[in-house]
Amino acid sequence: MKNVIVIYYTQSGQLEKIAQNIAKPLLNDQEISVTFYNIEMEKPFPFPWPKADFFDAFPESFLQIPAPIHSPSQDLLNKKYDLVILAYQVWYLTPSIPINSFLKSDFGQQIIKDTPVVTVIGARNMWIMAQEKMKKSLIEANAKLVGNIALVDRHINHISVITIVHWMFTGKQTNYLGIFPKPGVADEEISNSSKFGEIILKYLKSNHFESLQNELVANDAVEIRPFLIEMDKKANKMFTKWANLIVKKNSSRQTWLKFFNIYLFVAIWIISPIVYILHLFSIPFKTNQIKKEKTYYKQV
Ligand SMILES: Cc1cc2nc3c(=O)[nH]c(=O)nc-3n(C[C@H](O)[C@H](O)[C@H](O)COP(=O)(O)O)c2cc1C
Repeated sequence: MKNVIVIYYTQSGQLEKIAQNIAKPLLNDQEISVTFYNIEMEKPFPFPWPKADFFDAFPESFLQIPAPIHSPSQDLLNKKYDLVILAYQVWYLTPSIPINSFLKSDFGQQIIKDTPVVTVIGARNMWIMAQEKMKKSLIEANAKLVGNIALVDRHINHISVITIVHWMFTGKQTNYLGIFPKPGVADEEISNSSKFGEIILKYLKSNHFESLQNELVANDAVEIRPFLIEMDKKANKMFTKWANLIVKKNSSRQTWLKFFNIYLFVAIWIISPIVYILHLFSIPFKTNQIKKEKTYYKQV
């Protein structure tokens, strides 16, 4: 008998659906026992998000400052797991506060220590640097990352910005104004994600995870868009400055968050299109770099 724990946090239910679909083949197998753990904050984040709360989550998300979460049951903690499936969303280019809080908690550290981990990302599309931060947290916790699956909104970057704002601020995962596509990971992609569970099951049974990521990648578990890597890296540099500034501004925090809101608007709608055009022109000069980055970020 092998024990698998599926850990996740979700607001809209998207990550729960993804986690359940991936776990399906494991649940159907007599030799595998699957435990689900839904992370719950002591002070829950609102959903839909009031605008002020959405921006207020920025500094602590980005600086990876944990917040208190409810402890899992003793039964859950008493087991030793053969595999952890850690499903997370990205908040501000960083693993979300609930996931980071779990990773930094004593019980989180106990669960993942010396254990193979498959990360499952359900994000808009900008997850590359968040996964680099996740890799670091897993190394610090002595866990072993053996696989990564990244499910995203496949629409054009700016379209998904518009549609996710509609989704996050209204709570409705619907076609904005009746003309925009539905936000989030496509339903078909979520239901097809059981194929990743089949692959994970095979490697879990063989006790060897060395080639797991290659097989996941061969089955489209990860798509890398070079422009998004560039934007992610640039934005991380700017976010570092903003987040450190805002956490120091106790009494004028709300004012500074409003400035950050304006900055973000300008970055998305003015700076990012310029960077995109420059990126297109630079492609012929950096084919090697792009190839190297694609290979690196597809791996674990
Ligand atoms: C505060 C906040 C910040 C977010 N920042 C990012 C981001 O930087 N990159 C990204 O790809 N998605 C981002 N998202 C989208 C989430 O990763 C996720 O796809 C969405 O919130 C749905 O997840 P759920 O299962 O919790 O409902 C953000 C969402 C929220 C609420």
